[in-house]
Amino acid sequence: MVQETRLTPDHLMYPLFLVKGKNIKEEISSLPGNYRMSLDNILREIEECIKMGLRNFVLFPAIPQMRKDKTATYSYSPKNFYLKAASKIKRKFPDCVLMSDVALDPYNIDGHDGIVRNGKVVNDETLEVLAKMSVAQAYAGFDILGPSDMMDGRIAAMRVALDGKGFTDTSIMSYTAKYASAFYGPFRDALDSAPVDGDDIPKDKKTYQMNPANKREALIEAEMDMQEGADFMMVKPALHYLDVIHTLKEQFELPIAAYHVSGECAMLTAACQNGWLEYEKAMPETLLSIHRAGADVILTYFAKDYTKMYREGRV
Ligand code: PBG
Repeated sequence: MVQETRLTPDHLMYPLFLVKGKNIKEEISSLPGNYRMSLDNILREIEECIKMGLRNFVLFPAIPQMRKDKTATYSYSPKNFYLKAASKIKRKFPDCVLMSDVALDPYNIDGHDGIVRNGKVVNDETLEVLAKMSVAQAYAGFDILGPSDMMDGRIAAMRVALDGKGFTDTSIMSYTAKYASAFYGPFRDALDSAPVDGDDIPKDKKTYQMNPANKREALIEAEMDMQEGADFMMVKPALHYLDVIHTLKEQFELPIAAYHVSGECAMLTAACQNGWLEYEKAMPETLLSIHRAGADVILTYFAKDYTKMYREGRV
């Protein structure tokens, strides 16, 4: 009667990793229980989740090396298998919520979220590519676009491009406060998307992702996203940034999302596999704490397991 917070699968989004091909399902070694899957298996996975009551998904592509270039042209090519897959998913499951990833890193030979020139990530030229990618994704049928790149001004650039092409109903979930975090490792393994080692390539993403020491800066980012037309604001990672989630929730009226990232999930999974923590207790407590801090929406690799427990009346 007096429990203040209740977490249902409606609040969860499940990240899925798409690879080109057929009948592929490879486990991601640093993220046990998660797989790189070809479209046939992704469709099966989505169907299984929807039957259990989980219908929100985020799709990430692993792009073959031969498709990568300096300016991520494959990201908006009509031949792009990621875009074609999105159309098929939405045609088969019109009621699912499908979110994209808007960033250059899967498509960029330098492994950065923006175009690299003379050792720097160039913000403004990157916006043009992000705008093209957004229109291509909206055309493919994604319901929500997820700019994870952290270039300044991208929400406005995307909104203008989308509205210009008539995609006024496509939402934007801005990665508003995305920190330059050590906890993205397993994700980069999954997609082979880490910054590449090279003379003229920045070693990390610190020139565009945020400094973990800063919270007030998140408010500036949030204010800009709001002005530029974001529909959701996301904080990422989640557990190490619960204070940021809480502050944004108090100060803004937009829905707040939190990305419980790969490294955060991997830590818990590893402890459970060692017998040091009990998964069915530690996992729901973790997700509940992110919700209690203020996240309306949680992107988590545990979405399916939580939904299963929820359905069986065990949370
Ligand atoms: C890249 C992107 C990253 C994640 C989502 N989109 C990694 C990065 O910024 O290097 C991380 C997600 C996770 O760790 O689960 N645009």
